[in-house]
Amino acid sequence: MRHLLDIVDLSEQEIYSLIEKAQDIMQRPTKYQDVLRYRKVATLFFEPSTRTRLSFEAAAMELGANVIGFQSAAASSTAKGESIGDTVRTVSNYADIIVMRHPVEGAPYAAVLDSEVPIINAGDGGHNHPTQTLADLLTIYRRKETFDGLTIGVCGDLKYGRTVHSLLRAMSRYQNVRFVCISPKELRLPEYMTEFLRDKRIDYTETVDMEEYMSELDVLYMTRVQRERFDDKNEYERLKDSYILSESKLTTARADMCILHPLPRVNEIAKEVDMDKRAAYFEQVKNGKYMRMALILFLLDHRNDPTQFVSLDHTADRCRNPKCILQFESALPGLTRTIGTKKRCYYCESLI
Ligand code: CP
Repeated sequence: MRHLLDIVDLSEQEIYSLIEKAQDIMQRPTKYQDVLRYRKVATLFFEPSTRTRLSFEAAAMELGANVIGFQSAAASSTAKGESIGDTVRTVSNYADIIVMRHPVEGAPYAAVLDSEVPIINAGDGGHNHPTQTLADLLTIYRRKETFDGLTIGVCGDLKYGRTVHSLLRAMSRYQNVRFVCISPKELRLPEYMTEFLRDKRIDYTETVDMEEYMSELDVLYMTRVQRERFDDKNEYERLKDSYILSESKLTTARADMCILHPLPRVNEIAKEVDMDKRAAYFEQVKNGKYMRMALILFLLDHRNDPTQFVSLDHTADRCRNPKCILQFESALPGLTRTIGTKKRCYYCESLI
């Protein structure tokens, strides 16, 4: 079966097909209202969520499916010490597809080792968030009518911002795309992302100044500083208001620039910007539900396809990333995969 762990699990052609499907669902919702009758979608959320969980649940219901699941680890047998593998193996008996969010990097990658149904990664720690990227891509496509030739600014917490990691991977596949990565030094992109951009020979610039390249941007993707990922709360307090987008900061921006944010926002976009026609973050929310409907249909249609495992190797050198699922579940096998020229942890992509 197919899973969605990383946005690059979908080809560019498949992404275009999802965009077409999502737009068709928007225009003709009644055509789809019963297509998943008697099917069940499980939403296993080990970490808080408003948009991702509720949009998946709304998506399932609008396709005629039923929804089961839980909203926190405390409300599941995880609280009694059950492993992710046993949890998904159990839920595979009750549901046709599993949507999983987890605070630990690589948790959905562990889940697919035991699941008998497709797994959708709804965000794993500071690693990936591919279905947010589907919402982002539809919004960019509807605003810009292309993915090629765009200059995309990503601003804020690029270290822990999983939506940024997935967006950069997705957009790197299009022609002549350039990234401007705006962050404090402490919150720059992680090593596996800069290595990815260098490997693909993507044009990217790192800066601390939000306004330096503003006039060149087609898209400005703002993000929140991710309080829940910091080990040092004083560092969070010091960095949390590094960037606040206001109307005055947009004076040099193009009239057709598109302002995105995965939400939730804290302070990083002033409320006054909501009225600016360039603000598209609530369109993103709406688009997310339709892309998730298209994705559920796609994965259920492809459930008999061979699993797209990249080649995995067992290793005795277990990953040392303290935020990797391997540190939390000792029974998981140490596995590596080769990305570019380097061996990396299968779960979280840290160098081994
Ligand atoms: N964008 C996003 O993932 O929002 P939630 O955390 O509310 O799901």
